[in-house]
Amino acid sequence: MRTAKRGVVAAVVALGLGLGGAAWAQAPSKADMQRGSEIMQKQAWRGRLEKAKALSPEIKQFLVKIALKHSRHSETLTLRQVMAEILADYQAIAVAIATDNGDLASEAARRLANHRLPRGGMLPYLPLEKVTSKDLSLLPAMEDIIEVGAIRLAEAAEKGDMGTAAQQLGAITGGCVTCHAHFRGQPGMSARLKK
Ligand code: HEC
Repeated sequence: MRTAKRGVVAAVVALGLGLGGAAWAQAPSKADMQRGSEIMQKQAWRGRLEKAKALSPEIKQFLVKIALKHSRHSETLTLRQVMAEILADYQAIAVAIATDNGDLASEAARRLANHRLPRGGMLPYLPLEKVTSKDLSLLPAMEDIIEVGAIRLAEAAEKGDMGTAAQQLGAITGGCVTCHAHFRGQPGMSARLKK
C-alpha cells in the first residue's frame, strides 16, 4: 500500500501536479493505486502546468480519485464526444423510466455513472481561466449529483421504484445544467455572426 501510494504520488508529481501527503477518505486497493498511477501519467496537460500546479491538494486528490473510480479511459475521444455518450445514456434512462423498463434504466444509469473519461482527462477541455481551485470546487458536487445519483437511480429502478428513479433523473438534469452554465459556454459560435 505504501509503495503503491508513493507510485501515484510520484506519477502526479511527475505531471507537475505536486500532490503530496494525500489524505484518502477511503484507501484504494494496491491494484487501484497502480492503475491510478498509470492513468495520471498519461494525462498530459500541455501548457497548463502552472495552472495545474497551483490547484489545492483537495482538488488534486479529487481528480486522482475520479481517475481511479472510472474503469473506462479513452485514448482518442474528446470531452465533447464523451458528452455525446453521456447524452445517449441519459436519453436511454428517460425512455426506460417512461416505459417502466427497470432493466434498461438501471443498465443505462450504471453506464452513465461509469462514463468514459476523455483523452487527457477533463481539464484540457475547460477554458484556461476556469482551471482554478475555486471553479473546480464545483466538481465534487457534480460527481455526487450525477455519478452517485445515477447509482441511486439504478438501485431504485432495479426495485421497480420508477417514481424515485424519475426524481433522481430530475436531479441529474440539474447537474448537467449547473455544470454547463459554469464551464461550457455556447457551443459552435461563429465569428462571422453579426454583432
Ligand atoms: C463536470 C461538468 C459537466 C457535467 C456534469 C455535464 N457536462 Fe456536458 N459538457 C461539459 C463541458 C465543459 C462541455 C463542453 C465540451 C467542449 O465543447 O469541449 C459539455 C458539452 C456537452 C455536450 C456537447 C454539445 C454541447 O451542447 O455542448 C453534450 C451533449 C453534453 N455536454 C451533455 C451532458 C449531459 C446530458 C449531462 C448530464 C447527464 C452533462 N453533459 C453533464 C461539462 C459537463
